[in-house]
Amino acid sequence: MRPLAGKQIVLGVTGSIAAYKSADLVRRLGDAGAEVRVVMTKSACEFITPLTLQTLSGHPVALDLLDADQESAMGHITLARWADWILVAPASADVIARLAQGRADDLLSALSLASESPLAIAPAMNNKMWSNQATIANLELLRSRGVQVLGPASGDQACGEQGEGRLLEPVDIVAELNQLLVPKKLQGRRVLITAGPTFEPIDPVRFIGNRSSGKMGFAVAQAAVEAGAEVTLIAGPVHLATPTSVNRIDVETAQVMYESVMMEIGGSDIFISCAAVADYRPIELMENKIKKIDHDSLSIELEPTRDIVADVAQQEDKPFVVGFAAETQDVSLYAQEKLQRKGLDMIAANQVGNGLGFSVDQNALEVFWENGSRALALTSKGQLARDLMTLIIEQYNAKNTTKTA
Ligand code: PMT
Repeated sequence: MRPLAGKQIVLGVTGSIAAYKSADLVRRLGDAGAEVRVVMTKSACEFITPLTLQTLSGHPVALDLLDADQESAMGHITLARWADWILVAPASADVIARLAQGRADDLLSALSLASESPLAIAPAMNNKMWSNQATIANLELLRSRGVQVLGPASGDQACGEQGEGRLLEPVDIVAELNQLLVPKKLQGRRVLITAGPTFEPIDPVRFIGNRSSGKMGFAVAQAAVEAGAEVTLIAGPVHLATPTSVNRIDVETAQVMYESVMMEIGGSDIFISCAAVADYRPIELMENKIKKIDHDSLSIELEPTRDIVADVAQQEDKPFVVGFAAETQDVSLYAQEKLQRKGLDMIAANQVGNGLGFSVDQNALEVFWENGSRALALTSKGQLARDLMTLIIEQYNAKNTTKTA
């Protein structure tokens, strides 16, 4: 899917050291299939020449509000009408303030005011300017009017300081813009997801765990948000940032994950069980650390944990239930057996072990449901999660249509 293909984008470039990145951004928007017209503010021209952006976009760069030549060709009203989207990147603190005030005394602010097209801004500024109350208030106002704010990133800044306020990389700006254009097929739907490992305590310092990093489940949560869903993510102990707009609940043990899922499941339309939940846990939790000198050998007796996904699938008013299967051998055979035995609507199977599946950034899946299957080839977990979400939406819709028919 190429959501930007054929889209007409007015790219506003403003005065920031990050303006040099707009050259790469113009190229990437073009590669994604968009048609780009560039508008530069006066101070942007101090950082990058209009000729560079004219060459890359293949069109003259618009600079002035009152330019007789421009007004007869692509003046501010024509540009405002032409744009499917207006993207301001980099968006300086000054331009953000001007947009918030509804100023119209230069070309970029005037055409933004005159356009009914959606507006996205990618801020770039010093971290103190970013955290200033004035900027925060301006952004709040813009967000409340439906303006999309992309980023910023944090890290080393041109001024020598560190912190939030760096322009997102052009590749990320294009990815975010693509996502804004994807149809929101799960709008109004609630999706509950589990991710990561569980830790089953043996004594106060030791536990039985597994190699799950949470990356796959967090990517699935991100994909569900991108599809427009309201997402709750129940996460085992992992070191990952929460995807934007996701309601996250942190848990440690299989039992607490079970209880949290049962608390949250009511009203969910889709449940996706990506967590690597311990199948067994120690029967006894030792009160104090087990001392090595007390034991020549040691046995720990285990008992089964409750199967979360199977219990959800048993519920009378159950949501659409998606399980995962992590297998080291006979992957599709075991996965299909789990689909049946646990009463799932869909199962996503992955080969694990020997550097596959767990912790790594890429993965591949074989997905099974009652009357079908699809192989999703090795790719980043982010892309894989989006491909999986497309399948889930297809099958969820198919099932709901049959239910209501
Ligand atoms: O987190 P990453 O490092 O990115 O790795 C991703 C992953 C390999 C962990 C993920 O892709 C994956 O396969 N998750 C499921 C792991 C697992 O526990 O598989 P399983 O075959 O043992 O369990 C089958 C299903 O039952 C799973 O949906 C599991 O969540 C569920 N289950 C298992 C036991 C239990 N007590 N309750 C459960 O709900």
